[in-house]
Amino acid sequence: METTQGEWEQRYREGKTGWDRGTVGPALAHWLNSDTPPRGRVLVPGCGHGHEVVELIRAGCQVTAVDIAAQPVMRLKGELAELGLHADVVQADLLRWRPAEPFDAVYEQTCLCALDPAHWAGYEQRLVDWLLPGGSLLALFMQTGDDGGPPFDCPMPDMRSLFAAERWQWPDGPALEVPHPHGLLERGYVLTRR
Ligand SMILES: C[S@@+](CC[C@H](N)C(=O)[O-])C[C@H]1O[C@@H](n2cnc3c(N)ncnc32)[C@H](O)[C@@H]1O
Repeated sequence: METTQGEWEQRYREGKTGWDRGTVGPALAHWLNSDTPPRGRVLVPGCGHGHEVVELIRAGCQVTAVDIAAQPVMRLKGELAELGLHADVVQADLLRWRPAEPFDAVYEQTCLCALDPAHWAGYEQRLVDWLLPGGSLLALFMQTGDDGGPPFDCPMPDMRSLFAAERWQWPDGPALEVPHPHGLLERGYVLTRR
């Protein structure tokens, strides 16, 4: 696994999980109530404690959730068992993991910003590979305005270049602006894989 695994394990061990709202992110609730909610087979990369995984299952999706760290994976598996819900919850490095089949949608809530920007182009290629043509990428791009990370800043001009128009259809209209209790801002877009 990527060397960052130990760092993520340590953050969970020490409870330094400031990104975790303790409940489902408001963007997912918004998109589930939109005209084009996520449906079918949905991947949640960097799922963390997986509040969104539970919500997506309840919305009728077949969910695969992946995280590099053992603690959130074990916790999510336990919670799903208690609730009598099912998802494929996998501990893996997303920069190496390959699913058996592509997905209808990916719910990307601040996984990109957790990866070193040196890996972003490779991660974007993986997102293309993981999605069926016409599939949806529900993406929350972290805005920190700062150098360094994680979380690494995801300025929108950089995101427009990374998720290039030849491969991704961007929606018309403004971003969904999602404030985080920690004072950071996520910008949400539903991109379509061409
Ligand atoms: C900022 S947290 C977001 C967690 C969750 N999506 C949320 O919004 O609460 C990023 C997550 O990505 C995971 N992660 C970081 N690098 C990863 C990698 N290479 N492969 C899989 N998961 C990774 C971390 O363990 C962490 O749980």
